[in-house]
Amino acid sequence: MDIFEALLQSHQRQRSLCDRLLAGIGEHDERQKAFELLKTEMAAHETAEERAFYVPLIEHDDTVDPARHGIAEHHEMDEMVEDLDKTKEGSAEYLEALGKLVHKVHHHLEEEEQKFFPQARKVLPREKQQQLGKLYQDEHDRLYAKEEAAQ
Ligand SMILES: [Fe+2]
Ligand SMILES: [Fe+2]
Repeated sequence: MDIFEALLQSHQRQRSLCDRLLAGIGEHDERQKAFELLKTEMAAHETAEERAFYVPLIEHDDTVDPARHGIAEHHEMDEMVEDLDKTKEGSAEYLEALGKLVHKVHHHLEEEEQKFFPQARKVLPREKQQQLGKLYQDEHDRLYAKEEAAQ
């Protein structure tokens, strides 16, 4: 699996968790479960993606700006997740914050896939794409287990 296939798998997982989260509004347990899973997946994905995808892209002049932009968005999404955690479930603020987070996640994944992946394919040699896929997957799985254990 190359880096793009590995990242896409996690992106699809995040999209389906966002759907579950929106569908679960009003049902406390389902919504809570989907939120916990999304938080765990996002935390593992963001860090592993920064290490296996954005760091190598920072090394190239052509991709340093998109890499910076992507990392800044990770930080914004982390803050949105934290805010949502602190908001009273079911309140108007909560629903607004949830809608904003889901919108942001979709925007971020779309931008990575449509804009950054094609740029990255040009600067990362084929062999490197494979190698980074393995690095990403190992990091993702390790971080996911660590996040789960901390809950
Ligand atoms: Fe990302
Ligand atoms: Fe991503």
